[in-house]
Amino acid sequence: MRLFGLIGYPLEHSFSPRYFAEKFFREGIAGAEYRLFPLERIEEFPDLLATEPALCGLNVTIPYKEQIQPYVHGLSPAAKAIGAVNTIRFERSSSGLWLEGHNTDWIGFAEHIAPQLPESAENALVLGTGGSAKAVHYAFSQLGLKSFSVSRRPGPDVDFTYGELSPAIVRDHTVIVNCTPLGMHPAVHGFPDLPYAALGPGHLLYDLVYNPDPTVFLIKGRQQGAATSSGLGMLYGQAEAAWRIWNGLSETEEEAGADPQEDDSQG
Ligand SMILES: NC(=O)c1ccc[n+]([C@@H]2O[C@H](COP(=O)([O-])OP(=O)(O)OC[C@H]3O[C@@H](n4cnc5c(N)ncnc54)[C@H](OP(=O)(O)O)[C@@H]3O)[C@@H](O)[C@H]2O)c1
Repeated sequence: MRLFGLIGYPLEHSFSPRYFAEKFFREGIAGAEYRLFPLERIEEFPDLLATEPALCGLNVTIPYKEQIQPYVHGLSPAAKAIGAVNTIRFERSSSGLWLEGHNTDWIGFAEHIAPQLPESAENALVLGTGGSAKAVHYAFSQLGLKSFSVSRRPGPDVDFTYGELSPAIVRDHTVIVNCTPLGMHPAVHGFPDLPYAALGPGHLLYDLVYNPDPTVFLIKGRQQGAATSSGLGMLYGQAEAAWRIWNGLSETEEEAGADPQEDDSQG
């Protein structure tokens, strides 16, 4: 049996077990199981490795995406650049167990947004400065777009505060990505503070939040004629990229030569 799973805490509302159970059933993948491994403290990680010798791959979620790094033997270039690990590749050999930390959030995001980008897109605004924003900036650097950071407070890596976002700046940045929890269930009425009237049909608004779908952020964009997308495709994409990594395939769909995943999540 090949065992996969998720570490984090708490894990009650995780999407991954159902996603992988359905994937294994749909694709006829036999002898594989995906389980939740809630760890109250990251120091419990070595015990998990010792008690679960069938483990072949793990996902990592809040609050351990940064804290897991000292427990793995190597990091992919993307995980190193982003500073966060959400996938661990296991390699077992006669010399022991080798663990490699990867980040597939950026892959899920890049693969989902790339076909939706406006033709003339050059500049993107990334709202928020948490872990997901770092993955999104990395994705834009790989896609060849310049991305600018927007925060509630000025700081060394912050390009604009919300108060500095003039209509001209918004017109100049045709891709805007919400990497804050604003609008997420149950606080569904929240939305980022932008001059929405400056948006138009040349804009793409992408919301990492996918519950609800659409969020108020996306609805306000649509009212101005902007194209919109929720982050559901990113969520599926990061899980598929983890599966490819666990199975020794290339990280990205493009490198693996696979067909783009079909889904109906685009707004
Ligand atoms: N679709 C997917 O696959 C996917 C993947 C990862 C995350 N997500 C979603 O993306 C969202 C962000 O994730 P994260 O892990 O980066 O979250 P996070 O670290 O908790 O927060 C991200 C940033 O949002 C800003 N922020 C927080 N509360 C705010 C508020 N009340 N008003 C305005 N800004 C606020 C903060 O930036 P400043 O302090 O700089 O303003 C914070 O650093 C979450 O809703 C998460 O569920 C989705």
